[in-house]
Amino acid sequence: MGCFLFLITFVGTLFFSSIINLSVAVDTISLTQFIRDGETLVSASQSFELGFFTRGNSNNRYLGLWYKFDPSTVVWVANRKKPITDKQGMLVMSDDGNLVLLSKDKKIIWSTNSSWVLENPSFDYPTDTLLAGMKLGWNLRTGFERYLTSWRSAHDPSPGDFSLRIDIHGLPQFVITGGSGKEVRSGPWIGRQIDGLPLFSNLLYKAKFVHEQDELYYTFEPFNNTVKTHSVLNQSGTLHRLVWKTTEWSSLYSWPFDPCDNYAQCGANNNCRINKTPICECLKGFIPKAEDEWDTQGLSQSRKCIEKPPSDCLSREGFLNLQAIKLPDFNWYNSSMNIKECKAECLKNCSCRAYASSDVSGGSGCLMWFGDLIDIRECPPQFSWGRDIFLRVPASELGNFVI
Ligand SMILES: *[C@@H]1O[C@H](CO)[C@@H](O)[C@H](O)[C@H]1NC(C)=O
Ligand SMILES: *[C@@H]1O[C@H](CO)[C@@H](O)[C@H](O)[C@H]1NC(C)=O
Ligand SMILES: *[C@@H]1O[C@H](CO)[C@@H](O)[C@H](O)[C@H]1NC(C)=O
Ligand SMILES: *[C@@H]1O[C@H](CO)[C@@H](O)[C@H](O)[C@H]1NC(C)=O
Ligand SMILES: *[C@@H]1O[C@H](CO)[C@@H](O)[C@H](O)[C@H]1NC(C)=O
Repeated sequence: MGCFLFLITFVGTLFFSSIINLSVAVDTISLTQFIRDGETLVSASQSFELGFFTRGNSNNRYLGLWYKFDPSTVVWVANRKKPITDKQGMLVMSDDGNLVLLSKDKKIIWSTNSSWVLENPSFDYPTDTLLAGMKLGWNLRTGFERYLTSWRSAHDPSPGDFSLRIDIHGLPQFVITGGSGKEVRSGPWIGRQIDGLPLFSNLLYKAKFVHEQDELYYTFEPFNNTVKTHSVLNQSGTLHRLVWKTTEWSSLYSWPFDPCDNYAQCGANNNCRINKTPICECLKGFIPKAEDEWDTQGLSQSRKCIEKPPSDCLSREGFLNLQAIKLPDFNWYNSSMNIKECKAECLKNCSCRAYASSDVSGGSGCLMWFGDLIDIRECPPQFSWGRDIFLRVPASELGNFVI
């Protein structure tokens, strides 16, 4: 069941159910229906309930949506930035079809935009939870982005430090951002495949990556409506895929999955290899930067590897194939170049350090990387993602092979 149906259902319920039928004028909004704090609306499928809730010892009241079978799991909050501090809040349907949340003194605390309901009736402002049918991603025509933001704490739904977003510089990739930028990154999304995410085929839901002229997004649908599942970004920046198992939520996977998922865990020009010692290894053609030259801005940037001398461009005349890795960050993408043109183009430019095909089935599409190679990792044994990359190395590193 998609969110489209879902909102229409709520709107429908507001209009047609036998909730108190009144018409009250508040400023310019004329009210036809409302629910008060204490009352709730149940979706037609009986899955979700909309109403007011509170958390912890605070007096803050929020309009939210929760599972009917599990009211403790709030999946969406309307006024997360503007709590109501008493129990006099009221949700009304205005005559132009918008939902409006009003305080005791009839101030507008939150409202939907007409475009929200009429043009694209899905959740444009998700909270920390991605429900079936919700979109995570971009309206490429308007530049509008839908993304998740964690709660500040278990008792405070106001926006926390972490967000799950789709980064569309170059080929799209998932990122979890925190106070200091990227915390976790998937590899680029190539065809139906995404590197670096612990996704696997499952019998519960179908994940979809949609890239059309006007829209680019991720969404999912359960195979049947007995399956209750969603993704949630928790307050410390971990994304969990939860599935309801009879009496409780169980985590199917979480991301970051292991330390190699932490952004640039190993520093530049390294490969992060979980379960191997050392966990960080300089890529072929690179050597560890002397310890006393390590950058001091935190562990993630410290273990930088630098080019082996001689590091002049002319010596770097060949490419080495590294297999089954998460491709580095900051890709440069050209959809029309084939892999041969890609290689030739990379070779021409001294700052090009690597290239890869962007087409899993061998068609055209070229990815290139300039400068340091950031956030590469090997695929852990239990997953099967990973792509080939061609690293530009001195001829001396190639042995008998020149690819
Ligand atoms: C309504 O639209 C305005 C301007 O586009 C935006 O700032 C605001 O957040 C939107 N509110 C909702 C609830 O959609
Ligand atoms: C729905 O999917 C679940 C999980 O795959 C399965 O166990 C169940 O039998 C399915 N129910 C129906 C009615 O297809
Ligand atoms: C978020 O999930 C991670 C991984 O399961 C867990 O270690 C962490 O404690 C969770 N954070 C919170 C605030 O629950
Ligand atoms: C992609 O490559 C083709 C062929 O080399 C070139 O004509 C085109 O300008 C490139 N596009 C971009 C965006 O650089
Ligand atoms: C090499 O690539 C970089 C990054 O795209 C670009 O700024 C530079 O102009 C290129 N140099 C040459 C010689 O093509």
